[in-house]
Amino acid sequence: METIPVHPLTLNGRDPGQLRGDPITGDRYYSPEFAQREWDQLWTKIWHVAGRTQELQEPGDFVVHDFKSESVICVKQDDGSIKAFYNVCLHRGMKLVTEGGYNNNFHCPYHGWVWGRDGVLQELNDPEDFPQGNPCNKLRLQELRCDTWGGMVWYTMNPDAPALLDYLSPMPELYKNYPMDTAVRVFARKIKLNCNWKFATDNFSESYHTRTAHPQVPPWIDQDYWSSRSEMFPNGHGRTVQPMRPSLRDRLPEGEPLPFDFILRQWDIDPDSYPDFDAKAMQGWLDLKAAKKRLWKERGYKHYEHMNDEELTDSPHTVIFPNVTISFLPDNLIFFRTEPDAKDPTKCTFDLWCLAFPVEGQKEVESVMAGTQPLQEAESETCEFNGGLGVPEIIDSIVWQDMMLSEGQQNGWQSQGYTDSYLAGQETRVRFFHEVLNDYLEGRR
Ligand code: FES
Repeated sequence: METIPVHPLTLNGRDPGQLRGDPITGDRYYSPEFAQREWDQLWTKIWHVAGRTQELQEPGDFVVHDFKSESVICVKQDDGSIKAFYNVCLHRGMKLVTEGGYNNNFHCPYHGWVWGRDGVLQELNDPEDFPQGNPCNKLRLQELRCDTWGGMVWYTMNPDAPALLDYLSPMPELYKNYPMDTAVRVFARKIKLNCNWKFATDNFSESYHTRTAHPQVPPWIDQDYWSSRSEMFPNGHGRTVQPMRPSLRDRLPEGEPLPFDFILRQWDIDPDSYPDFDAKAMQGWLDLKAAKKRLWKERGYKHYEHMNDEELTDSPHTVIFPNVTISFLPDNLIFFRTEPDAKDPTKCTFDLWCLAFPVEGQKEVESVMAGTQPLQEAESETCEFNGGLGVPEIIDSIVWQDMMLSEGQQNGWQSQGYTDSYLAGQETRVRFFHEVLNDYLEGRR
């Protein structure tokens, strides 16, 4: 098996010695003052995902990203570039558009000013009636910095922010082998939850909860902390790289089919050819790598072309500071993102996008979180969680199990009985996330 070098920026995500020991106090999850500091020092400083590059194919295609009380338009230009503007008319402050689509130009719904997709004012009523001068071809929507990575359009409100690729470092380098630009988003929901946005980053920064909260996972992805690599990076990002093979300490009840058997058979490996469970998990995992390398081309798995041995069979579950998580699977990407409610710090929205790498001849894909879906681009819909009733497609999935826990944890954070978290070594990244957040809040980054 090929040796995968560890990136030089990597810090050991299981070593509490890397931490200062900042407490993770409850007020971080409910205090309006804390939320205001996050707005002032975090959200206005970092890069945000506005949408997908897939949504911006032709000049005039645009997406709208509402974040708390801000709204931003990202629009494809005639020269193929993408520009981002605050979604606000410079006449009297009206919001220009409420959702993405295609616009030759942007008509303000209030007094009818017409803004070009380059942001320049093109037309207005009664241009001669402006004593200070006709603003046509002079006024320009306020622009933000905009860039793309991973098939996503990003923007920042911070003129002094580092370049996007520097901000994301080392993720673009780590994931260069995945054709993220051509993944198809087969399922997308924006789900309203009754918890603070940080519940998701906390949750996705450790796998200690998996055996309890997601008992279906260990027979599929090895959840033992000693089998995985937990990594964190100076910019606040982190990931857990877990082998997609059964954990050796877990056994399904007699007669229950092992998901790994199905995967082995898919690649012409007989799961009954191994002398015992441990050999099947460990040697089967190596045999799977070899089979994928041998057969990917004839099976139409073009996205395997540049993947290394680890990427062919493993699951790097990756948190991009502060609020985006991407699960990189051999055939899928799962994008998770929480954002704070505009007014209430005990609420957030949770974007769940399931993406698949197209395989020749496939019409449907297993989306992992939302069952089997047709292999075609899906629009995002907004819904209430409501115990899962608002988004029935995900009931019983891993992410539904996480969401079901979120409200109980929110209640706990607001209790006088909670003062700090008592963390295992394998949860080191949870406190690391809060320490990087504190760095932002205190102006150290
Ligand atoms: Fe937009 Fe008046 S606020 S035209």
